[in-house]
Amino acid sequence: MCGIMGYVGARDITKVILDGLAKHEYRGYDSAGIAVVKDREIHELRTTGRVSQLAKKVAEEHFTGEFGIGHTRWATHGGVSEMNAHPHVSSDNRVVLVHNGIIENAREIRADLEAHGIKFHSETDTESAVQYLGYVYEGDPKAAIVKLTKRVRGAFALVIMFYDRPNEIWVARKGSPLVVGRADGEGFCASDPTALLEYTRDVWFMDDDEMAKITKEGCIFYDFHGDAHEKKSMHLDWDAAMATRGSYPHFMLKEIHEQPDVVAHTLLGRVADGAVDLSKELDWSEAKIKGWKKIHFVACGTSHYATVTAARIMETLGDFEIRTEVASEYRYRNIPIDKDTLAIFVSQSGETADTLHAARLAKSRGAECLVITNVRGSTIHREVGNAIITPAGPEVGVAATKTFTAQITALVLLGLYLAKMRGELDKDTEHRLVTALMDIPGKLASVLDKEKDIEMLARDFADARGFFFIGRGLAYPPALEGALKLKEISYLHAEAYPAGEMKHGPIALLDKELPVVALVPKNGLWEKTVSNIEESMARKSPIIAVATEGDDEIANYTDHIIFTPETEPELFPFIGVVPLQLFAYYIARQRGCDIDMPRNLAKSVTVE
Ligand code: G6P
Repeated sequence: MCGIMGYVGARDITKVILDGLAKHEYRGYDSAGIAVVKDREIHELRTTGRVSQLAKKVAEEHFTGEFGIGHTRWATHGGVSEMNAHPHVSSDNRVVLVHNGIIENAREIRADLEAHGIKFHSETDTESAVQYLGYVYEGDPKAAIVKLTKRVRGAFALVIMFYDRPNEIWVARKGSPLVVGRADGEGFCASDPTALLEYTRDVWFMDDDEMAKITKEGCIFYDFHGDAHEKKSMHLDWDAAMATRGSYPHFMLKEIHEQPDVVAHTLLGRVADGAVDLSKELDWSEAKIKGWKKIHFVACGTSHYATVTAARIMETLGDFEIRTEVASEYRYRNIPIDKDTLAIFVSQSGETADTLHAARLAKSRGAECLVITNVRGSTIHREVGNAIITPAGPEVGVAATKTFTAQITALVLLGLYLAKMRGELDKDTEHRLVTALMDIPGKLASVLDKEKDIEMLARDFADARGFFFIGRGLAYPPALEGALKLKEISYLHAEAYPAGEMKHGPIALLDKELPVVALVPKNGLWEKTVSNIEESMARKSPIIAVATEGDDEIANYTDHIIFTPETEPELFPFIGVVPLQLFAYYIARQRGCDIDMPRNLAKSVTVE
């Protein structure tokens, strides 16, 4: 995955780059590096570990230069070592670059260049690109990069400096995200626009097969043949404060607390007088909507669980034929996709490679495509076109929280809208659910008021061997997401099961060291879920229940209860997931884990 930052301008070069890298750390944090050009010489500094370690080295060595680039790494090719950290420099010291992506034919390029006597210094795929550039560079950066783009296969966002091109940064993109920004007398590039918010909100999202020259005077965009073209900039509607932690100890906790506002914002302008209206965003006629026979939801990770949630809610609203698929599987199975299909892609970042490739496949098969994303202008948004943008603001914690609730809000609205346009939704149901949705922010606020109790509960259970999460019907999707949160940030094994399925295998694992978190809202499935709780108790598993306020009977089964406000049964996932996010957060905190940057994970996964 990796995060990239580049800067040319009058500010303190290393500060801009290090601050920018810190904002990219969620994309990778096993090593970091920086390179500058000074008096026609390339200097670079690298370290294993975090950006803070790099900052220490920069300060100790008084490292500075005229313009520069930086990188924070999530290892793909080559282990975590200083030697493999970026930036990489050509062995003739004329070119330096940072890279996000994978060069698939790196071995072949390396063998060729080694046969020409070029010495390699790392085990990375990236080095093949910089050594190749060094080999072909004859004073014209554009010509060299054009040659490189013809030679390499795979995905890349590259940021390049040449020793003899003062105040010039070159970028090229194919498959990995890259954004370019400009302010008066300065130019920037980054993997994530959030890193630029402090300096500018006018940005260009690079397209595939596009390169650019960034200077203090402006940016020029070219295609991979080297022909220049005009490109429209985009104004970002996020502000810099949104991407800070404020007084919270972790971004994740801040983002959990933002959820009441996020749901309210997501509803804004999309509901009025107990009715839903998405016609401003979705230019679809009734006839078109009625024409789709199948709905495919495609996503990864938490976004996938948002679609699993949505599918279960939508089933209650209309006669939909729905599939929910993990993007990395969708592409490689023989799933019928055609013009009768509405394919909905959900991606917080809008950059996940698996989801992007799945969207390309669906588009090529003639399906109507829609994306739900938190990043306007992201690659998936630009490629798919039809979009519902979730206004959750930048999410920094690697474990997604507020974007999940924003996604399910948008998805429920979409489900209601589609059912209504197909003539399958009665007015009372629409009114009932829209009114209940508008009450969700207040209800989430009251769940957040239980934070202290949940923290205490987490203290009692932080030493557990692992956890099972169970729920039936609409209580199952939040169980999936609760288990994922716990796995991601506390490294405990956690598994979610439909409560009734436990007896068909997983129950064999239960004992007194394996607690069961049971989502047991007071609805038509309460009794059945309670039977499953009893089965777990019979195997001595401690029970933690997420139950509805006023449910006095649940105390007969356990003392560990998180009471949540009542809502319409269809909307339980909103209420059920938040206590589980807090539970995972406090377990991880109790266990001393790195909550915002859990090991081995990256927030945005731009490799397949
Ligand atoms: C990564 C992140 C997950 C995220 C998933 C999908 O695996 O660690 O938190 O849910 O990607 O990301 P997307 O941006 O497509 O929603």
